[in-house]
Amino acid sequence: MTLRTVTFSPTGTTAKIVSAIASGIMDTIKCESIICDTTCRPAETFVAGPDDITVIAAPVYGGKMAPIAKTRLTAIKGLNSPCVLVAVYGNRAFENALNDMADFATSLGFMPVAAGAFIGEHSYSSPATPIAVGRPDADDIETAREFGRNIGRHLLAGTLERIDTTMLHDRPSPEESLLNFRNFVTGYQKQQAVTPRKFLPEVNTALCSQCGQCIDICPVGAIGDDCLSVDGSKCIKCCACVKRCPANARSLHSPFAPILSQNFDLPKAPVLSL
Ligand SMILES: Cc1cc2nc3c(=O)[nH]c(=O)nc-3n(C[C@H](O)[C@H](O)[C@H](O)COP(=O)(O)O)c2cc1C
Ligand code: SF4
Ligand code: SF4
Repeated sequence: MTLRTVTFSPTGTTAKIVSAIASGIMDTIKCESIICDTTCRPAETFVAGPDDITVIAAPVYGGKMAPIAKTRLTAIKGLNSPCVLVAVYGNRAFENALNDMADFATSLGFMPVAAGAFIGEHSYSSPATPIAVGRPDADDIETAREFGRNIGRHLLAGTLERIDTTMLHDRPSPEESLLNFRNFVTGYQKQQAVTPRKFLPEVNTALCSQCGQCIDICPVGAIGDDCLSVDGSKCIKCCACVKRCPANARSLHSPFAPILSQNFDLPKAPVLSL
């Protein structure tokens, strides 16, 4: 049996959850493990057999599986092979992400047998607008590992079955928070229709050492050779360059950050299905 983890994770929270789930699976069964990081490149071609297990993991962007993560998976295929779906979101909502992932994985020939929505520090979180800071925390990691152990036990017993992701729902947020957020989004969309504005990462040149790391870690190659310019038509606002700049020289001022920080501060718990 081969365990493959296929992960897209610009700021690393999805990768942490996947690593814990994979450890849990390997706590219970012996298998060959192959790690496939699609953050900066597409997955290499593979065909998973009915006895293999594949973990497909991506962050939630706008209530769906991050669209770019799908484009990275076109060369992988399952022969009705079991897969575990992992969506990591920034404590607002995962909405339709697991259904979206289930449809996508099924179209590639996989059979979803387990799914989990976990919480990760929001890509737009900053000291001024903290959102789910430090998630996944130790409890999240233990939950993910135990989830992996359970998957392993079911694999051993041969009791994994197709799951229905439409039964998985967000933990409720306070009604007032949802209303505040909806009103903000409506206002933002109206404003964008009249005067469209783009928000892109900015660089504090006094701090930047020109080390070039941001160029290498940008998933879409949006940062120019000068480390300063960003191609707005490519940038997906993933914040990898912001969170991983060793000099803290980069920032991205998302108009969504304050409203998210103010309204989604109650820590949510993972939602799992197996
Ligand atoms: C463009 C974009 C859209 C996002 N949309 C959502 C969302 O709809 N709901 C949510 O709770 N978090 C949302 N987030 C936050 C991420 O899902 C979250 O921070 C996740 O942990 C990032 O995963 P990564 O660390 O693997 O990059 C969004 C982040 C970005 C960059
Ligand atoms: S990673 Fe940070 S310090 Fe290095 S070049 Fe990019 S902005 Fe400058
Ligand atoms: S430039 Fe845009 S796409 Fe590239 S790492 Fe930074 S935020 Fe992400």
